[in-house]
Amino acid sequence: MTTPYWVAGSPSTGEDRVEVRTPHDGALAGVTSNATAADVERAVAAAHAAAAGFAALPAHARAAALDHVSRRLAERADEVASLITAESGKPVKWSRVEVTRAVSTFRWAAEEARRFSGELQRLDTDPAANGRLALVRRVPRGPVLGIAPFNFPLNLVAHKVAPALAVGAPIVVKPAPTTPLVALLLGSLLAETDLPAGSWSVLPLPNEAAGRLTEDPRLPVVSFTGSGPVGYSILDRVPRKHVVLELGGNAAAVVCPDWADAADLDFAASRIATFAMYQGGQSCISVQRVYAHADVYEALEGAVVARVRGLGTGVPTDPATDVGPLIDEAAAARVGSWVAEAVAAGARVLTGGTRAGAHHAPTVLADVPRGCRVVDEEVFGPVVVLERVRDVDEAFDRVNDSRFGLQAGVFTHDVRLAFRASARLAVGGVVVGDVPSFRADQMPYGGVKESGTGREGVRAAMDDLTEQRVLVLTGLEL
Ligand code: SIN
Repeated sequence: MTTPYWVAGSPSTGEDRVEVRTPHDGALAGVTSNATAADVERAVAAAHAAAAGFAALPAHARAAALDHVSRRLAERADEVASLITAESGKPVKWSRVEVTRAVSTFRWAAEEARRFSGELQRLDTDPAANGRLALVRRVPRGPVLGIAPFNFPLNLVAHKVAPALAVGAPIVVKPAPTTPLVALLLGSLLAETDLPAGSWSVLPLPNEAAGRLTEDPRLPVVSFTGSGPVGYSILDRVPRKHVVLELGGNAAAVVCPDWADAADLDFAASRIATFAMYQGGQSCISVQRVYAHADVYEALEGAVVARVRGLGTGVPTDPATDVGPLIDEAAAARVGSWVAEAVAAGARVLTGGTRAGAHHAPTVLADVPRGCRVVDEEVFGPVVVLERVRDVDEAFDRVNDSRFGLQAGVFTHDVRLAFRASARLAVGGVVVGDVPSFRADQMPYGGVKESGTGREGVRAAMDDLTEQRVLVLTGLEL
């Protein structure tokens, strides 16, 4: 059966056949079709036509729809998680986490929709403005084109859809070509709501077709999550649009000398091993670089290697599997070639380093010379590089020695060091006492430097999708 896509809230089917196969063994996960040119036009025209009415829809109506989706995702969590695993190869334990997060993303959007009220600003701070008051509200910039990646095929679609619906901005979503099925299932839940027909569409499209869509003037906002080259090509193509880019990173964790007792180091090692390798390292904030103080390095290195060796690998549907395949064999081969490059340059493989099809073994490297891609680029694979540093300043310099800046983790108990990290590290967020991979869906999330521009996280995205509109009231008794 062909899974329909969604055009202005209604199901439709295209002329071709898109088979979605699980990267683990090539089994068929489902079949859908690419949206036809006529359906793309219908979706965009409907979003444009719906914009004014949708912006005026009462908050309770938008919140009720978002709450409904949140509830339905929770009710169907097992089925949704299985579908994520089937189409992406993500181990089912991580797919379940993703569903739980998407439930929270929609719930938060409902809550934020209810309280998104703007602010009052008194203007009688100057005699010329006696009796005057400004009401500063936020209005949608207009319909949104959301382009989502494969690595969180539900929750990163949720981060496009939920804030847009919360502020009353119609959205046309393009899921990743490798993982459209769960986004289409999400469409079926949106179709159960009373949202206006033109307020949302979910269109599977090849990446090449997205270029033309980004240029459509009826979609003045483009929110993209994915690779840097694609993101920046969008920005270059439509410099006058409001473009939000969530791009990559080579996230680092710093282990400070005060994080030294056995329990501390075991915790850090366990978190580093888990979050360097989770979903095959295919997260923009998976741990890629670790800078450990010389006092703790040896113990940490041994503990990380032991923890990584203890991870379950293999069949993604097995609840015991921690690390499954990458999205396809080409991705695993690329990761393998970057590891080989590091080894040829003198790196030591502490564990892993092998590949079978789309599966790359969880790999820990040490003594990796600078300039190797496993350090400088975004690996997006199950590889972590350990490095010994003399002091915390050197660690912070190494973290900043990157063209990316998404999140960093700092293992310390020292609150002053935590503030120093926040001041010194050029990243969108610092996580103290844990890995950089921590993300709560209501928290502002995004990067500096080549990690992107703009912020997601429900409320932050709502701000980003709207602009301020001021209403000045005069002659008031204040
Ligand atoms: C990402 O890969 O950018 C998203 C990470 C997350 O949502 O945990």
